[in-house]
Amino acid sequence: MCDVKFDLVDRRCVVTGASSGIGKEIARNLAYFGATVVLACRSRERGSAALQELAEDSGNDRLSLLPLDLADPESIRGFVMQVTVGGKPVHVLVNNAATYVESRRTTDAGRELTWATNALGPFALTNLLSETLADSGDARVVNLASKLAGGLALDDLDFETRRYSGVAAYKQSKQANRMLSWGLQRRIGDAVSVTACHPGGVNTRIYDNLSGLAAAGMKLARLFMKTPSEGARTPTRLAADPELGKLRAEFWIDEAPAKCRFREPAAIDALWAKCVELTQTDV
Ligand SMILES: NC(=O)c1ccc[n+]([C@@H]2O[C@H](COP(=O)([O-])OP(=O)(O)OC[C@H]3O[C@@H](n4cnc5c(N)ncnc54)[C@H](OP(=O)(O)O)[C@@H]3O)[C@@H](O)[C@H]2O)c1
Repeated sequence: MCDVKFDLVDRRCVVTGASSGIGKEIARNLAYFGATVVLACRSRERGSAALQELAEDSGNDRLSLLPLDLADPESIRGFVMQVTVGGKPVHVLVNNAATYVESRRTTDAGRELTWATNALGPFALTNLLSETLADSGDARVVNLASKLAGGLALDDLDFETRRYSGVAAYKQSKQANRMLSWGLQRRIGDAVSVTACHPGGVNTRIYDNLSGLAAAGMKLARLFMKTPSEGARTPTRLAADPELGKLRAEFWIDEAPAKCRFREPAAIDALWAKCVELTQTDV
């Protein structure tokens, strides 16, 4: 649990991937701060377990679970309909969920799974919620990016011609997270704070998918990584600290602003246009 406490009683927050790892700890913190928290989860089993654990832990009875599979455009649209039903506000959207896959896999729509889950899904979700966010007042979008980022190829986002590797696909998706954050901030305007962050190297299930030498190497490294609770500190502060509500298009590491090299406007616009074409969503 966070060692600081902010008052979020009037805020409604959505955390994707709240079933485990860093997302569960962000949701735990927001619940502890008194917010209404929607746990947006793919696995109903892990999501239900997290909901029960966080409700008992925080004593907050305004937590709920909604299904969301970011690799499935229909699931994203269904989630948006449910989360906004009756004109409910969304003050905080934490785009935390992500995947890492060792071998190339595709979605039903033919998209490479890492790209679909980590980049296109959050892009569509955020765009579909953008009006709600802008109308909710002092809203924040916090994107979980990574230091491990680069190699984005606009002409081969699905690794159809390039040799696939889990690391290359993950790095591409995490570069896109940052670029799309800056693109979103420009389009959504000053009413909403858009930030991205690197949570640190955090020992979570995301490393369970490694195999071979990488898995062997990481086995030891994992022992020295941050805990999920420590990894949740920066995104929690970006989502909740009243002193950080004025941040616009900033990249943070270890609870402090950091430089981001993916800020070239023309490249961001080209990526944005491609993602609009692929998701049929825009701000
Ligand atoms: N761990 C690190 O060292 C590290 C470093 C830099 C950045 N990050 C970033 O931090 C974020 C959280 O990662 P983590 O380390 O906490 O990983 P994690 O423990 O594996 O959690 C990932 C979460 O994403 C969910 N998810 C995966 N695919 C999904 C889909 N298609 N639709 C909806 N939800 C899906 C998982 O749900 P299920 O329960 O259904 O699997 C899980 O709740 C990610 O954005 C990651 O890139 C992590």
